[in-house]
Amino acid sequence: MKHYTSIHDIDNINSWIEEAKQLKVNPLKHHELGKNKTIGLLFFNSSLRTRLSTQKAALNLGMNPIVMNVSGDAWGIEFGDGTIMNGNTAEHIKEAAAVVSQYCDIIAVRAFPTLTDKVKDESEHVLKSFVKFASVPIVNMESATGHPLQGLTDAITISEHAKVARPKVVLSWAPHIKALPHAVANSFVQAMQKMDVEFVIANPEGYDLNPEITGNTEVFHNQEAAFKDADFVYTKNWSSYSDYGKVLNKETDWMITKDKIGDAKFMHCLPVRRNVVVEDAVLDSESSLVIQQANNRTFAAQLVLKKILESNK
Ligand code: CP
Repeated sequence: MKHYTSIHDIDNINSWIEEAKQLKVNPLKHHELGKNKTIGLLFFNSSLRTRLSTQKAALNLGMNPIVMNVSGDAWGIEFGDGTIMNGNTAEHIKEAAAVVSQYCDIIAVRAFPTLTDKVKDESEHVLKSFVKFASVPIVNMESATGHPLQGLTDAITISEHAKVARPKVVLSWAPHIKALPHAVANSFVQAMQKMDVEFVIANPEGYDLNPEITGNTEVFHNQEAAFKDADFVYTKNWSSYSDYGKVLNKETDWMITKDKIGDAKFMHCLPVRRNVVVEDAVLDSESSLVIQQANNRTFAAQLVLKKILESNK
């Protein structure tokens, strides 16, 4: 595997899940694999889990991680082709990506969408520019349209906690005060479509995700009907896709409550706004898997880095 930019880079999700579980049992088994290798983690946006878990994953493999908050600390990067750079950007991605490739054996990038320019966001211009102009493998730490490290994590977590052979998994929209990206939801959908689960999506009218991603997955506009017999309720807010990047209304009655989810396990990628997205009674109960999910971020990232290191020996 050269790059990990999408859930579609996973060739066999079941074997990946099993391998991640083995890494979890013995995280330092491959500590020699990354010896004298460097990974650069470039953040255009904030992070807690991705930043720390990816560093931890690299350290478990013996790699040296170096981290940069690109938006705050680097020169402003220009992505346009042929731009006359007499504005706020001081360095072109052609040089920036090539230079970072001199220092790093793998580059991981986080770059969120604008949520105002659908065409630009869907072009994945930041992530794809790194793929194009860097000479080393690229890992997506959440881009405009996908968060494949999170999607792999969620698949591992569901596999670990499933009590039946083919659990029912519901992805439910929940309210939020801000317009949020579609990336986590998109990658979760793509991961569930690869797994042997009964998978449905619940969201209010106007919040249907990109139909090219949801495909044949059933979409409910009635949360209660979607939650019937659910084993896992995975919750995430996202802004409208059709009315791109907009918060259409507050829909506060879509907040996740204990009454709604019953015996189902609750999942969320975090960070989560308590009593807006989900009530305390869920997060503070045994039903919540959010901390276990966050722990699995390390092993999802470690598996991805291991596969890239093995492919590029
Ligand atoms: N779930 C997730 O990506 O968390 P961070 O934004 O804190 O990295």
